Amino acid sequence: MHRRQFNQHLQRSAIALALSPWMNAIAATAEKPRAWHINPFALGVASGRPRAESMVLWTRLLFSDEDRAAATETLRVQVEVFADAALKRRVQKAQALTNDARAHSVHVHLQNLQPSTDYWYRFRQGDALSSVGHTRTAPAPNADVQELRVALSSCQHYEQGQYIAHAEIAKQKLDFVLFMGDYIYESSNSQYAIRKHNGEEPKTLQQYRDRYEQYKRDPMLQAAHAAHPWVLMWDDHEVVNDYANDQDRQYTDPKQMLLRRAAAYQAYFEHQPLLLGPDVNTPANMRLYDQLSWGRLADVWTLDCRQYRSAQACRDPVRGGGRMVVQCDELNDPNRTMLGNAQERWLTEGLSQSKRQWKLVAQATQISSTSVPAPVGRSYWNDAWDGYPEARKRLLQTVVDAKLKNVVTLGGDVHCNVAANLRLEPNNPQSPTVASEFVTTSITSRGLGEKPSALIRESNADLLHYRSDERGYSLITVTPEDVRCDFRTTKFPAGSEASLKTQASYVVKSGKAGPQAV
Ligand SMILES: [Fe+2]
Repeated sequence: MHRRQFNQHLQRSAIALALSPWMNAIAATAEKPRAWHINPFALGVASGRPRAESMVLWTRLLFSDEDRAAATETLRVQVEVFADAALKRRVQKAQALTNDARAHSVHVHLQNLQPSTDYWYRFRQGDALSSVGHTRTAPAPNADVQELRVALSSCQHYEQGQYIAHAEIAKQKLDFVLFMGDYIYESSNSQYAIRKHNGEEPKTLQQYRDRYEQYKRDPMLQAAHAAHPWVLMWDDHEVVNDYANDQDRQYTDPKQMLLRRAAAYQAYFEHQPLLLGPDVNTPANMRLYDQLSWGRLADVWTLDCRQYRSAQACRDPVRGGGRMVVQCDELNDPNRTMLGNAQERWLTEGLSQSKRQWKLVAQATQISSTSVPAPVGRSYWNDAWDGYPEARKRLLQTVVDAKLKNVVTLGGDVHCNVAANLRLEPNNPQSPTVASEFVTTSITSRGLGEKPSALIRESNADLLHYRSDERGYSLITVTPEDVRCDFRTTKFPAGSEASLKTQASYVVKSGKAGPQAV
């Protein structure tokens, strides 16, 4: 095939793939170049789901009052992909149709890319051009890779700080950003606000869209998306605090709760560089859990800890959701699940068969225990893995049964930097350490006070590092020899002039479970 024919072939296949099942019903009606009053690409650009040959590119059109008439039309958006930062060597051109049913979001699934390769991209609609994004594909599955660099991040309450962590992430040399959830917050707490959410707590699709719009307008967040591909997982606040599958804290009728969840999931999809997942054709039950490989160096699993989980054990009958529970027999019910049966089976099979040097299990919350002594027995936070001890045991038993050496779990949610040993029986020195855990603190969201933090620290020998006072992200560097975690932090609240320093660094050496201080 001649080069020109080959390019045409590539362009046609990219166009076809841009028309995901969710977009097939749309027919183009607006063809002539539109003159925009205000650039519609105000939310920036993003790339995600990196693979050796493919990548998802994202943007969303916004309409000023002068351009409002265009919002009722189906619009054609072009994307151009380049092999150089100067945008001289174009390697692909694709287009997607979009309309108001999907908030004019655009998801282009690029194919036929080269592994371990840098690309630059931008979108065009009429006479408007987006900013330029940079992305980089994953290595080929059998490539001999010497390094993987990831920014582990979560929990970015808009009101509780500036996104200076994202400004630093944007400048780092990274393979991808691993965001483990709480991308938006539905709730407000005026006591800790240094800036304000617009509008009230979102419950409808339009309200969730508005909330994403406010977050996505942040220039530092846009910079981090434009600089690197993102691998994303959600936690609870993308819908509502402490929800579990179809249950919320108010014991709302599950049918109502699932309608709210569907609205939240759709808005999430509309604002992120994602696919809906195999065999799913609506965001209402999109499959977000996923696995990617980084050459022969690492397998990475990203787990959905909200959509399929059992409700928290021993909930308060009036105000459900998370709380500290004591003498709660329900905790030990083996039928209770954090991941749901299908995801748990998929993970067990994937882990057991993995031949790559490192197995990174990224999930939304904390696996190690944060239990504290109570007058009778111990008190457990029932919303994290402490509330699902049998599911935790099954996960760690898989590591033992498959004789897996290098398992490192990565988490977020708890607004705390954690380095911990993971044992089948938490905190029991007789039970060997079988895996290692790093949990990143929040980008902005307030952490636990020092008193409860100190109590947790001194009550759990497996916690080698546990600090909830600072905000930031964690730089994870994976090499054949070790996995290193640098906790990059600043004081709470993060102001726009703040800068980050390294709070602490830990490594997990190949063949030896358990983080060691550097
Ligand atoms: Fe959070």
